[in-house]
Amino acid sequence: MKVLMFLPLAAAAIAIPDPEWQAFKHKYQKSYASPAEEAARYRLFIETKARVDILNKLNGEPVFGITWLADRYDEEKYQRGLKKPKNFVPTAPVKNSTVMRGRSRAAAVDWRLTEAVTPIKNQGQCGSCWAFSATEAIESQLIMASGGRYDIELSPQQITSCAPSTGTYGCQGCNGGFTEGAYDYLKTAPGLANSFYIPYEQSLTESTETASCPKSKVDAMSGPYMELSGGYAQVTGYSYAIPPCTEGSCENQDLKGLASALEEAPVSVCVNAGVWNDYTGGVLTSAACGPMGAEYQDHCVMAVGYNSTAPKPYWIVRNSWASTWGMAGYIYLEMDKNTCGLADDVTIPHVTSSAF
Ligand SMILES: *[C@@H]1O[C@H](CO)[C@@H](O)[C@H](O)[C@H]1NC(C)=O
Ligand SMILES: *[C@@H]1O[C@H](CO)[C@@H](O)[C@H](O)[C@H]1NC(C)=O
Repeated sequence: MKVLMFLPLAAAAIAIPDPEWQAFKHKYQKSYASPAEEAARYRLFIETKARVDILNKLNGEPVFGITWLADRYDEEKYQRGLKKPKNFVPTAPVKNSTVMRGRSRAAAVDWRLTEAVTPIKNQGQCGSCWAFSATEAIESQLIMASGGRYDIELSPQQITSCAPSTGTYGCQGCNGGFTEGAYDYLKTAPGLANSFYIPYEQSLTESTETASCPKSKVDAMSGPYMELSGGYAQVTGYSYAIPPCTEGSCENQDLKGLASALEEAPVSVCVNAGVWNDYTGGVLTSAACGPMGAEYQDHCVMAVGYNSTAPKPYWIVRNSWASTWGMAGYIYLEMDKNTCGLADDVTIPHVTSSAF
């Protein structure tokens, strides 16, 4: 009898009388190990609601919301992972867009509508954004350079695991790295393998050690089994689409130059993604995204277009947090500004088709 009496009392003690919380738990099928854990998760949920309200007010129209991440600690959310070397001095050339500056640009560009953009990827709980951003830009260049023949997904794992922790860039695998370091590594390798040959294996649920570099596979991609390995991209270097900003507030980046570059191809960009975990769709304004300065950059992604005729013109940006995040994996950033610092570090890899 004592036990039977005890159970309903315990149940009454743990039920949190907030219908929104109950609905949230139901919608995302949340269950917790103990009442204490649920209480802690509920506090995070309340904090998220308050943060989302403030961010939406800053943004003018709502683009943030309650998602499955609302009860998570920061370290349990999508990872970023841009780590720029201290006192980095850019040395790569700035590409002169072949689209003439000052000529009237296309009103809108959307590479999502073409085959030059591969499907959305998922870096998981690994700070490998820099490897994904480089990989996606290389894929697009390979697809375009081969006239669509090599429409293959390439291997962010190879870059994550093999870009060296020594030298100028000091890439740290899942602990962060730099897109420029990814290209620099690839100049020393036969190429970037496809993602079937060297698949992604970092954990989607928790931080684990970076997988070690599959060196013999990397060496073999251009060897006797080249055709069987399924294709790869050779990377000979990279350019900046516009002069990069490596210090200060970066408020005067060449946005027309970024638009011109996007008329030619999708490009790798790095951003301040501090508020992106709560993003649910719509145009994120610069006011809500926060500082665009070089020292605030913490994530690398890919810009795939813009729309200058929308009521609120926007850049179209592809993330690597799975297609369940944002708008099918994409985010729109206010176009009239260097929103989130997307024009700070815009790179274009130099890619040739694999040699078969
Ligand atoms: C780009 O074009 C400008 C103006 O025509 C020229 O001065 C500059 O040297 C060019 N830069 C490169 C990297 O070709
Ligand atoms: C640009 O945005 C406007 C308004 O939202 C929309 O009607 C139009 O289709 C968009 N253009 C492109 C090319 O996506």
